Amino acid sequence: MNALVLGGSGGIGQAFIDYLLKQDKTQRIHATFYQHHPGVHDERVCWHKVDVTQDSAIKDLCSQFDEIELCINAVGMLHDQAHLPEKSARQIDPDFFTRSVLINALPSLLLARHLSPHFKHQRPAHFAVVSARIGSIEENRLGGWYSYRASKAALNMALKTLSIEWKRSLPNVIVSALHPGTTDTRLSRPFQKNVPSHDLFHPSKSVTSMMQVIDNLTPGQSGNFWSFDGQKLPW
Ligand SMILES: NC(=O)c1ccc[n+]([C@@H]2O[C@H](COP(=O)([O-])OP(=O)(O)OC[C@H]3O[C@@H](n4cnc5c(N)ncnc54)[C@H](OP(=O)(O)O)[C@@H]3O)[C@@H](O)[C@H]2O)c1
Repeated sequence: MNALVLGGSGGIGQAFIDYLLKQDKTQRIHATFYQHHPGVHDERVCWHKVDVTQDSAIKDLCSQFDEIELCINAVGMLHDQAHLPEKSARQIDPDFFTRSVLINALPSLLLARHLSPHFKHQRPAHFAVVSARIGSIEENRLGGWYSYRASKAALNMALKTLSIEWKRSLPNVIVSALHPGTTDTRLSRPFQKNVPSHDLFHPSKSVTSMMQVIDNLTPGQSGNFWSFDGQKLPW
């Protein structure tokens, strides 16, 4: 199996790479990092420094390998040095909102644009993206976190739409949005203090659970939103 992991330098992305390296069937993993140097060094992993918000960078990345059976996008952004998630609409910063959509929603569509030739082999394949339960419109009861929620809802709609297109043109590819559970990474660190320890997962636990979900999916289940525990989430 050949895989592509976007965001391999992140907590969850790196755990995906560690997991895949333990599988005998894994031949080659193409993985991306951007600002943080990757922590995994193995001859089966080929690292690429990529700003995944740039169409030309994704095109160039995809030109560097041939067929793949698994694509996982684990890129994401919740906060930066100047911004925490908004508690009120009064805190909306247009630049932060735009950057959230740029990083959380657009790269999966750019990937879809340039990856489809790599899935034409007709073997079973997965296009899986780490989304977030907080992007579910139906489950939104607490409010707040406008930019993150809206960017993940946009991502979810993009994936649903892609699954409909690919059911016709690439029926071997299962498209899924995944919720990892609250996971101990740079992204969640400022928000962990109120999370009970049994609800804060080590990245290896989230990834083992998400891979179990992925491995059990059939083509008829393409275009759904899954929690790490296998529960189907409302969009
Ligand atoms: N942790 C949680 O509790 C949790 C819960 C729900 C959903 N999620 C989702 O899980 C995914 C992974 O998050 P994480 O917790 O592993 O966060 P993380 O440790 O902060 O990793 C984020 C990853 O995104 C990459 N990235 C950000 N901007 C990029 C850009 N412009 N170009 C290329 N790469 C970029 C980072 O690369 P560099 O660091 O190299 O720049 C890093 O690899 C995200 O989509 C997040 O929304 C996480």
